Amino acid sequence: RGPQAPAADLAGRHVVISAGGTREPLDPVRFLGNRSSGKQGYALARTAVARGARVTLVAANSELPDPAGADVVRVGTALQLREAVLKAAADADVVVMAAAVADFRPARYAEGKIKKRDGEGPEPVELVRNPDVLAELSAARARPGQVVVGFAAETDDVLANGRAKLARKGCDLLVVNEVGERKTFGAEQSEAVVLAPDGSETPVAFGPKEVLSDTVWDLVADRLR
Ligand code: CTP
Ligand code: CA
Repeated sequence: RGPQAPAADLAGRHVVISAGGTREPLDPVRFLGNRSSGKQGYALARTAVARGARVTLVAANSELPDPAGADVVRVGTALQLREAVLKAAADADVVVMAAAVADFRPARYAEGKIKKRDGEGPEPVELVRNPDVLAELSAARARPGQVVVGFAAETDDVLANGRAKLARKGCDLLVVNEVGERKTFGAEQSEAVVLAPDGSETPVAFGPKEVLSDTVWDLVADRLR
């Protein structure tokens, strides 16, 4: 398969991809967020379009240009992302969770801007857990045979952490990135290993996010057959 003529092996398939990073508001001007650029999710969307898929991209706070040929649904928070992904997943063949979803959100949203006051210490911010969208999608497949893919950025024992996470989430594939300086956040290139519940490990050499994306689609296409 050459770059000029990608296989249309996802033709007739609906794939849902989440990308970017959620933001959890504290007040009208502040939020808790993360450094996800959305580049990996957008690369997945472009490569899936090139392979013939109908693509729904659920984009959380990304400033990247809309991928041509994809339906883009914009969201802000983890709860909004969950709603949009579950809705799109209802008739999807594949769901890929490339977004960095905040694990916690502020327990309360202040309608007015939070002010500091002389002589008073800052109020602690109470957090509550967000739902785990990937675990939810994996546990209750909207369609039989739907393929669910997760992403994980790990440090320390990357493979052991990835294996444990794959089992905990119950997804079909987990793309594990090792994070460190120059790696992953906002970078143009990435290096990863794709884990599957059968014990297989597919390494992907340091390179463009499109190459990692095409490896993911190869593994997904195998599972759709
Ligand atoms: N994810 C999700 N919903 C959440 C958190 C994460 O769907 N509330 C998805 C991410 O999109 C990603 C995968 O789960 O595909 C792994 O995210 P990660 O943050 O590594 O997993 P966690 O279970 O939150 O583990 P950790 O405590 O290491 O952050
Ligand atoms: Ca997390």
